[in-house]
Amino acid sequence: MVNDQKQYVEMWEESDQGEQTEENQQYFEDPQCTADSPQVLTFPDITSAAFKIKTGIIRTPCVKSHLSAITGMDIYLKKDFLQFTGSFKERGACYALMMLSEEQRKYGVISASLGNHALALSYHGHRLGVHVTVVMPIIAPIMKIQCCKQHGAEVIVKGNDMKEAKAHAMNLAQKKGFTYINGYDHPHIISGQGTLGLEIVEQVEDIDAVVVPVGGGGLIAGVALAVKSLHPNIKVIGVESERCSSFSQALEAGKPVPITIQSTLADGLAVPMVGYNAFVTAAPLIDKMVLVKEEWLAIAILRLVELEKCVVEGAGAAGLAAILAGQLNELKGKKVVIPLCGGNIDTTILGRCLERGLAVDGRLVKFSVTVSDRPGGIADLCKLVNKTGVSIKDIIHERAWIASDVFSVQVTVVCETMDKEHANKLRQVLNKNYTRVVFGDTINPIVNDF
Ligand SMILES: Cc1ncc(COP(=O)(O)O)c(C=O)c1O
Repeated sequence: MVNDQKQYVEMWEESDQGEQTEENQQYFEDPQCTADSPQVLTFPDITSAAFKIKTGIIRTPCVKSHLSAITGMDIYLKKDFLQFTGSFKERGACYALMMLSEEQRKYGVISASLGNHALALSYHGHRLGVHVTVVMPIIAPIMKIQCCKQHGAEVIVKGNDMKEAKAHAMNLAQKKGFTYINGYDHPHIISGQGTLGLEIVEQVEDIDAVVVPVGGGGLIAGVALAVKSLHPNIKVIGVESERCSSFSQALEAGKPVPITIQSTLADGLAVPMVGYNAFVTAAPLIDKMVLVKEEWLAIAILRLVELEKCVVEGAGAAGLAAILAGQLNELKGKKVVIPLCGGNIDTTILGRCLERGLAVDGRLVKFSVTVSDRPGGIADLCKLVNKTGVSIKDIIHERAWIASDVFSVQVTVVCETMDKEHANKLRQVLNKNYTRVVFGDTINPIVNDF
């Protein structure tokens, strides 16, 4: 996958668009999103957006979840991954495009995005007859890059991260007269995202808390403004991946600050600095911020597939991840709404998440055991495993690396169990029958190579 992405960049570098002039290195500021004059959004901004985009986006269901039983909370899921391009980003993109002046429509728009905002702009731009250019960094999932092209946008894969992609997009905006639309900080984007909050309070009564994933901060700013304006007692809780805690660090610093981010399953949240408008709008309204670990994102994705039949990407599953990790136990017994805000996950990453989730659950177990190399040695091991009711998925054996005993063989087994207790039973049985048994805690690291 990474190689494919490199190819895109090389193709682009070879084309006439890639000249590295001094001018290209300049960084132009986005006039809508500045440190000096951040804009605090108001409730009428959101109601105006709701009115305008009514026919352009889908009013997604917000329904009681099967997860209520396992979390001890009355959970409602706002299924915004059901938007046409698979994320809530359509709300803001649709509104921002509808608010362009005639002159701006003529020249077209540009944005830098890791994927969902780019998809949303591409789709609604095509629908509304506005030319869209998106600059996506090489870390953007390849599936999202392809889909933007299919929606008719001009796609440029450029930059190692969002910062570099954005610098390039701002540059092009200056040169070609495009309007730059920041995916989390443009005031119309924040207003559009707020319509998700409006729908939630219309669809569910007596909500105690809303748990919102946070990247650049546009979603939580809009949702918090909508929800708190109508029901000030509803708690608004933000969730970030611990690998990109830009909002938490901005709160500590009292202003948006650039931070170093690491690759994460929640790629949609990997923003190195939150938006200025998003920050000033959201900060006074947020009751709590939580940082989640990667394994809980994987488990949340697994639970949503198994219990809800929903395919949700890491960023979209962050709210549930925080609850499953036990980081919001104060909400037990309460009515909690979780926006499932995106479903655009690469199929290969989904497969690895499911495996990783099963491994953390203790339902996918890997162990190595040294057995006799005499005939029947491995058969005896298989019989023993079979007796415990555990199912073997993979088995390999090797001789060369056993230094001490030439009549032994090391067997590595990956197997499926029913749960952690079942896995423990297997562990006890193996320890009782063999002297050298080593259990591996994880199957594969999942975040290192995307
Ligand atoms: C699926 C998903 N959830 C949540 C977010 C966070 O939104 P924001 O950047 O407005 O904070 C994003 C951002 O791209 C996303 O793609």
